[in-house]
Amino acid sequence: MTPIIQTIRGFRDIYDKPYALMERVIQTATVVVKRYGFSGIELPLLEHTPVFKRSLGDTSDIVHKEMYSFLDRNNESLTLRPEGTAGLVRAFIANQMMQDLPKRFFYTGPMFRYDRPQKGRHRQFYQFGIECLGVDHPYADYECIKAAVDIFDELEITGYTIHLNTLGDQDSRARFNQAFQKFLQGHKNDLSNDSQMRLITNPLRILDSKDAGDQRIIATGPRLKDYLSDVSKLFFDQVCTYLTNAQVPFQLDDNLVRGLDYYGHTSFEFKHSDLGAQSAFGGGGRYNGLVQLMGGSDISGIGFGLGIDRLMLLLEPQPFIEKAPVIVIPFEDAQVGYALYIAYLLRLENIICEVSFKGKLAKDLKYAQKRNACHAVLIGPDEMAQESVTVKHMDGSCANQSVTAKQLVSVISSPKLP
Ligand code: HAM
Repeated sequence: MTPIIQTIRGFRDIYDKPYALMERVIQTATVVVKRYGFSGIELPLLEHTPVFKRSLGDTSDIVHKEMYSFLDRNNESLTLRPEGTAGLVRAFIANQMMQDLPKRFFYTGPMFRYDRPQKGRHRQFYQFGIECLGVDHPYADYECIKAAVDIFDELEITGYTIHLNTLGDQDSRARFNQAFQKFLQGHKNDLSNDSQMRLITNPLRILDSKDAGDQRIIATGPRLKDYLSDVSKLFFDQVCTYLTNAQVPFQLDDNLVRGLDYYGHTSFEFKHSDLGAQSAFGGGGRYNGLVQLMGGSDISGIGFGLGIDRLMLLLEPQPFIEKAPVIVIPFEDAQVGYALYIAYLLRLENIICEVSFKGKLAKDLKYAQKRNACHAVLIGPDEMAQESVTVKHMDGSCANQSVTAKQLVSVISSPKLP
């Protein structure tokens, strides 16, 4: 027997209910962010490796150990995108969009990270993201978070928390880093192995450590918020005020630094305890230095990435109502052509409709039942001769009806596609 080829570990096929959930998340998110003036952008899945190395930071976990990078046939190092922001900023610069600010984009699609798969964590996963370039004012930070909240509201997701922090401007961070590093040097031997490494490469990330011992040490050390410049403080206060005025509840989280190097000022994460270990179903923040770092001018940015796979887990317990189709059933081969015509008429009216011809009425009706059909449209030789059909109401609410092809649509009160 020929062996069956399985999917790659951490990759999966998405169909049936999960596909419908994914579609719902993307459609809802798209409608919501369009209200905020965002328009769609489709970006390559593959980029030159430096697009990510330069932006996310060499010492970030993603670049350090999670990227799918390989040499192509031309010996160039390419990487499957692990996230969307870096590629978008690359596109922004390459297409000279800085002439026409602000720019607001949304994107969706697969991202790739080589991490250990578990519930809510895949090697190919899906994000819906927005990025707003060229607005320095904190109202953009507010709008970004509010747009995410609007998406969750429309998806009827409740029980989550918004974790909010500021990383301040570069000077504030540099001053804190110096004090923090000095403090940690005194506790070096008690830190976890990961944090000992980060002490050299990226001390700020130690704030994010999940290790209980690290957390105890951090709790007694300097706080980033005490090192913020007045400008950084004011900026963050404004973000908080806008959110409070709009009655968007949030939790201040001093240790939220996020895993990507490009962030400064506002950073945030959406978390839900139902998701277990992978509780963050979205996150984002401000990245004012990134466009310049990637070779463009000094243009600010703010955005978020939502984990579609995790949003799907939050939606899963909600009742799933698939739109009921109409099943058109010709009795014999001779009526198949006429059945196709009837199906055409129904679809013209946006009615979901399938033709089923198994050669035995009982089998076709069984299939209609399995598909939860609202109606079966039966077509035998008599119906075809009279240009009519017999409508069977699958819920048994009324007796079969004989109607002309033209009357059919008015008889069928089937849910229509939007
Ligand atoms: P991120 O926090 O790395 O941010 O990813 C955003 C979301 O993607 C996470 O909160 C999580 O829900 C989801 N996610 C990440 N890795 C996985 C995985 N392996 N499996 C399933 N879901 C995952 C970013 O990517 C930034 N680009 C967001 C951003 C946009 N910041 C500014 N603009």
